[in-house]
Amino acid sequence: MFISRIFLLLLVPSCLRASKSGQLLNYDVLYELNMKLQGLVHQQKLAAWDYETNLTDFNLERKLNVDLKLASFQKEAHLNISRYQLNSISDINIQRESQLYLQLEEEVLSPQKYRRLKQIISEMITIYSTAKICHYNNPSKCDLVLQPDIEDIFSESSSEAELAYTWIQRRNAVGPKCRNLFQEYVQLTNEAARMNGFADASEYYLLEYTDECIKEKLKHYNRRLRPLYEQLHAYIRSKLRKKYGNCISETAPIPAHLLGDISAQKWGGIGPITLPYPEAFEDLSENLKKQAYTITDIARLAEDFHRSLNLSKMPHSFWEKSIFTKSSDRTMTCHPSVWDFCDGQDFR
Ligand SMILES: *[C@@H]1O[C@H](CO)[C@@H](O)[C@H](O)[C@H]1NC(C)=O
Ligand SMILES: *[C@@H]1O[C@H](CO)[C@@H](O)[C@H](O)[C@H]1NC(C)=O
Ligand SMILES: *[C@@H]1O[C@H](CO)[C@@H](O)[C@H](O)[C@H]1NC(C)=O
Ligand SMILES: *[C@@H]1O[C@H](CO)[C@@H](O)[C@H](O)[C@H]1NC(C)=O
Repeated sequence: MFISRIFLLLLVPSCLRASKSGQLLNYDVLYELNMKLQGLVHQQKLAAWDYETNLTDFNLERKLNVDLKLASFQKEAHLNISRYQLNSISDINIQRESQLYLQLEEEVLSPQKYRRLKQIISEMITIYSTAKICHYNNPSKCDLVLQPDIEDIFSESSSEAELAYTWIQRRNAVGPKCRNLFQEYVQLTNEAARMNGFADASEYYLLEYTDECIKEKLKHYNRRLRPLYEQLHAYIRSKLRKKYGNCISETAPIPAHLLGDISAQKWGGIGPITLPYPEAFEDLSENLKKQAYTITDIARLAEDFHRSLNLSKMPHSFWEKSIFTKSSDRTMTCHPSVWDFCDGQDFR
C-alpha cells in the first residue's frame, strides 16, 4: 500500500563528451549519490521491518528517525542536482536519473510535517492490522483479528448473517479510528503535491504512469471490457442467488460481504459455488493438509517453481530471516509481503 518508490540504477562508467559549459552532471556524481542513497534505503528497510514485525512505540520511533534521515538526504540531493546545468544532457541514463532525484515527493514537507505524515501512516497500518472484533456466535469473545480469523470467516462461512455481522463489525473497528488520521493524511499529501507544483496528490499519482493520456486510455479499455464484465457479474450474481436467495436482488449490485473476501477484492473464496463444474473443484488447502505440507515446504515448492524458470535460488538468509508464521510473543502486521532490503543480498 504505502510502498516508497525507490529507483536505483547500476551505473557503468562511461566517457562523456567534454563540454565547455561548466558543471555538467556526470556518472561519477550520480554514482556517489546512488551509493549513499542505497545505504540509507537499506537502513530504512531494516527499521521498517523491525517495526512491522514488532509494532512497538520504540520501534516506530526508530523507524521515523530513519525516515527523516532519508528524507533530508533526498532534499539535499535534489538541491545539489538542480545546481547542475541540466537542460543540455544528451545521455539518456543521466537524464532519467537526474529527473528521479529532482522529483521530490512528500519529503518536500518540513521535517515536522513529514514526520507527522509518516506517523499517521504507521498508526493507520497498526489500527488496520490489530483491530479486534467479537465472534458472531459468541459476542463476549472479542479476539478476532483480520489475519487469519476474519479472512478465514470470509472464505469459509456461508451464513449470510455471520458475514454481514463480521463485515460491519470489522469496519466499525477500523473506520472511525482512522477517519481523522486519514483526513490529515489527505491534507498533508495534497500540501506536499502543491509544494511540488501539482494541483493535488492525485495529479502526482497519475504522473507515475508516464503517459499523459492515461485517464482516457483507462476509460477506453474500461468501455471495451464492460460487456464481458457485465456478463461475468450477472453470472456470479445468479450463482450467489441460488445460494443466498432473495437477499440478493436480481438486478441490483451484489452485496459486497457475499463475495468471499473481507475487501470484496478477490473471488477465490466463492470458487466452490461459482465455478461452472464444481465437481472439478480441487480444494488446494485440504490437499496440502492431507499431504502434511509445512509452511516451509510450500515456500520450497514456490522456490522450485521459480528455479524451473531458471531464476536463482533464494539466499540462505531468506530462510533464516523471513517470518513464515505469526508469532504470539509480539504484535505484528501479518499481511503477506515481499521485502527487498536494497543491498543485493537481503530478501525476505
Ligand atoms: C519487540 O521490540 C521491543 C522494543 O520495543 C523489544 O524490547 C522486544 O524484544 C521485541 N520483541 C521481539 C520478540 O523481538
Ligand atoms: C551536496 O553538495 C554538498 C557540497 O558539495 C556536499 O557537501 C553534500 O555532501 C552533497 N549532498 C549529498 C546528499 O550528496
Ligand atoms: C457460527 O455459527 C454458524 C451457524 O451455526 C456456523 O456456520 C459458523 O461456522 C459459526 N462460526 C464460527 C466462527 O464459529
Ligand atoms: C539459465 O541462466 C544461466 C545464467 O543465470 C544461463 O547461463 C543459462 O543459459 C540459462 N538457461 C536457460 C535455459 O535459459
